[in-house]
This record gives sequence, C-alpha cells and structure tokens, in this order.
Amino acid sequence: MRNITEANLTDVVLARLQNTADPRFRKVMESLIQHLHAFLREVELTEAEWFEAIRFLTATGQKCDDKRQEYILLSDVLGVSMLVDAINHRRPGAATENTVLGPFYVHGAPEIQNGGDMAAGWEGEPTYVTGSVRSTDGKPIAGAVLDLWQSNSEGWYDVQLADTGGRQLRARLRTDEEGLFRFRTIKPTAYPVPTDGPVGAILDRMGRHAMRPAHLHFMVSAPGYETVVTHLFVQGDPYLESDVVFAVKDSLVVEFKRSDSEAEAAHVGVDAPFYTAAYDFVLKPAESSEQQKAISAADAAHASHTSF
Ligand code: BEZ
Ligand code: FE
Repeated sequence: MRNITEANLTDVVLARLQNTADPRFRKVMESLIQHLHAFLREVELTEAEWFEAIRFLTATGQKCDDKRQEYILLSDVLGVSMLVDAINHRRPGAATENTVLGPFYVHGAPEIQNGGDMAAGWEGEPTYVTGSVRSTDGKPIAGAVLDLWQSNSEGWYDVQLADTGGRQLRARLRTDEEGLFRFRTIKPTAYPVPTDGPVGAILDRMGRHAMRPAHLHFMVSAPGYETVVTHLFVQGDPYLESDVVFAVKDSLVVEFKRSDSEAEAAHVGVDAPFYTAAYDFVLKPAESSEQQKAISAADAAHASHTSF
C-alpha cells in the first residue's frame, strides 16, 4: 500500500500484524500500536519532542548494567510496575498484599538461622523483627522461606556501594515448625531512588521528589503457595503518602516500637535502645500448577535482572 495518510496510517500498521502467529503477542502488539498512535495524535507530538524521547530512551538503556536497571526504575516511577503488580496479584483480603520488587533484589542471599542477624557489622538502630507465615485458612506454614533485603542506615543497598565483600544486608531464613520467624537487623531509613541517571532528570522535570519511605523487603515463598513479594513500611515515615514508586499499602505499614530495656535487649541479642516490629504473613494457596510455573518464571526473571 502507498500514499498512506495521517487518517489511515494506524489501520495500515495494524493490518501488517496479519501473519503474527502467536495470538497473545498479536493482541499485545495491536493494543500497543493503537494506544501509541492515539497518544501521538492526542498530544500532537512535535519532532523535537520525539527526538528528545529517543534520546531519553537511549540514555536509559545506556545507564543499565549488571548492577543498575534504569528501565525498571523508569517503570517504577511511572506507576507501571505497581499496575502490573496489581493486575497480576489480585488476592483475597486475607492474603498479604504484594508490592513492587524494585531493582535491588539479588539471588543467593546468605542463609541465616531463625533469630540470626542480617545486618552483622553494620551501624544502625538495632531492630528485632518477629512474626509468622500462615495459609489463608490460618494454618501455620513450616519451612516457608523469607528472602530479605534492605538498605544501610544511610539508604544505600550493597549493590550501590563499592567493596562490600558480596551480599550484605540480605538474608534467607526459614520459618520453624510453628510457622514462626524472627531476625535481627537495623531499622530502615527513608532513601532516594537513584537520581544520577535519566530517571532522576525526568523526576526533577516533573517537580517530583525521589524518596521512598523506610521499608524492609520480603519475598516469602512456600511450595504450593503464591510467592509474596512485598515490603514492611515504618509507621510514621513522612514519605508514606508520596512514595516515589507508589508502593505503600495500609496493610503493610507496621509500628517499629522503641524499647530502652537492657534486659529485653539482652534477651533477643541486641543492644538497647532497640526497636521491635511484628508481622504475620498470609500466603494464598496456588490455584494450579500453571500458576506455580508462572511464579517460577517470575522468580527466574527476578534472578536475572540484578546480579553481582
Ligand atoms: C526499592 O525499594 O529498593 C526500590 C523500589 C523501586 C525503585 C527503586 C528502589
Ligand atoms: Fe528498597
């Protein structure tokens, strides 16, 4: 076809999908082309803006390496990650809510014993976290795996720091026979997402701050259950209402209670003053083996996106 016009261009492009064998891929591409063209028509994009967009996307790709994923960050600050998350994890009210994975998850965190310290050697306010992992029917889940990661007291993850000697402020532990877990760490602080790349520049241009409220990351899994990727947020944090990646849910906000008791601190193996936080995770039984396969595929994708 020749002499394609502004009026018929979209239809002509859509018609070229006629030999697309995979029906799902065809549906996604059809919708993408329609929405992209509608967006260009709506804003009447100028050529200068189009070149700027290409420059921005190129710079975003160039910022990525084995420790930095600027595209995931872009997806996060535009609310795309949380929307994909919401669409894919429509859980019954009782089950723990998912939230964004973020770019700092790394496979292969060191195993610690229940009660162990995931922040040994790191300065910060001592914190003791306890809780349980249960099924939506209330039964404790023994041997559930909690994969934990967090930033240091200045808001940096190990992958952002030089010479941390491998995985730090990360741990994997298992629930005991009663489905209970406990671990020691340092109290998380609010921190900015990385702003030294194109995403930082676009946040600035939108007049937005880059802060995330203080949180601990959890990935909780057990055979036969949907894996939960989530955070626990610190109650009272000033950024809970304006998290740059839109990830805060009321059900995930937890009180970190301060205790000055030397005796209590000694009992749990930390120095006073210290904080305690408690949370009961509830996992939803996986509906089918197909769903389990999807979860494994998602885990594999997580595994590949950030590594040492
Ligand atoms: C994080 O919590 O680690 C995170 C999430 C999204 C973007 C940047 C960081
Ligand atoms: Fe984080």
